[in-house]
Amino acid sequence: MKQSGNGFSNIGFILATAGSAVGLGNVIRFPFVMGESGGGAFFVIYLLTILFIGAAVMLTEMVIGYSGQAGAPSSMETLSTKGKETWKAVGWIMSGSSNIIFSYYVILLAWIIGYIWLSLTGSLAHDPKEATAIFEGIKTDMFTTFLFAAIVLAGTFAIVARGITEGIEKLNLILMPAILLIFLGMLIYAATLDGFPEALAFMFHVDWSAVTEKVVISAVGMSFFTLSLGSAIVLAYSASLPTGTNLIKSIAYVVLLDTAIAIVSGLMIFSFVFTYGGSPSAGFGLVFITLGTMFANLGTLGHIFAVAFFTALLFAGITSAVSMIEPMLKSIHIRFHVSRYRAGVYLAVPTALLSTVVILSLGGYFGTVNLMDKLDYLLSNVLLPLGGLATTIFVGWFMDKAVVENAVNGKLGMFFTLWYSIVKYIAPILILVVMLSLLGLI
Ligand code: PHE
Repeated sequence: MKQSGNGFSNIGFILATAGSAVGLGNVIRFPFVMGESGGGAFFVIYLLTILFIGAAVMLTEMVIGYSGQAGAPSSMETLSTKGKETWKAVGWIMSGSSNIIFSYYVILLAWIIGYIWLSLTGSLAHDPKEATAIFEGIKTDMFTTFLFAAIVLAGTFAIVARGITEGIEKLNLILMPAILLIFLGMLIYAATLDGFPEALAFMFHVDWSAVTEKVVISAVGMSFFTLSLGSAIVLAYSASLPTGTNLIKSIAYVVLLDTAIAIVSGLMIFSFVFTYGGSPSAGFGLVFITLGTMFANLGTLGHIFAVAFFTALLFAGITSAVSMIEPMLKSIHIRFHVSRYRAGVYLAVPTALLSTVVILSLGGYFGTVNLMDKLDYLLSNVLLPLGGLATTIFVGWFMDKAVVENAVNGKLGMFFTLWYSIVKYIAPILILVVMLSLLGLI
């Protein structure tokens, strides 16, 4: 069923929301957090949090967007039973936070384009020392970063300004299958490597003694980041859904796709690491430095892999970047009665400025202050959890229960009461505890 005018089809919505969820987090962050947190045990806890907290919070965003039919500020204002002005402000803050993520995410995408270039020209480094130097060089090369980031920024804004059907949906219908194909192809190759059984054992062998409080906390934080929760993205996308959509089924597909890509990229990366040497807990450099060097040493095949891998990574990042623009663009478009293109221009200017400041900080303009790390810390540990806290409290305490039931449309059956109590009591407390501990306050 398709909404008349500018809306998602059911499959378009699933692919676009999965496109937002599947991103650099799955390929870069998931394997290294898993590597640092002891493999299998982290994985089980991650799956549990995705199922019980992530999916539950995702449904709160969907219920708000789907019932409100607008971006976060308008939806939260109309649907709230009290405190309308406050909720409107919360909606603006949540939408703005996804633009802040965009401002540094676009820089990572610029670096990935740099790596595609290095792979195409056969210039990936052959030893880790040289690879580290190249990585540091790319990070501090302000001109190239600025140029590539500007191209990505202009491209993504143009796509989002075109609208849901013609812009966002079309992009995801093309890129998502491409990402899946590339990753599956690479997984098949990885399965033939000597290190594959070790990778399987690392990911799926559960050693409960490795589970510390820190592992649990980082799993909850990851589940928010990877499902793109807390920044009004799922909310804004859900406002463009056809009536009668089965929200529960959509969530199931999104969670499945997101988790599948995380597993596949983990298996692939660890198979390479265990076959060619390297440490699974190599941190952020795991992908750019460790993997880049391995590809370089594999000859022609390695270079083809490198191009395919970094291209898939770029595609995954672009479908996420696009989603980060929509909450604010939609809200400006609706509240100020301007076209999507005009809203895009209004928004692109401050976003580009913030990105430029971040690039300058990476180039050493503000001494040792690395704004990318600072913003990532602020987002992952403060704004996203706060956003998740806000939507659960909103749906649990400030929305008419009948409206919530209507949006869920009986599809949860007897699980409705379970979900509603998670949203009302368990999730807010848990998120608060996680947040305070991420901030080192408890
Ligand atoms: N989910 C995206 C990823 O895994 C990142 C993201 C976080 C996107 C928060 C939007 C909001 O890379």
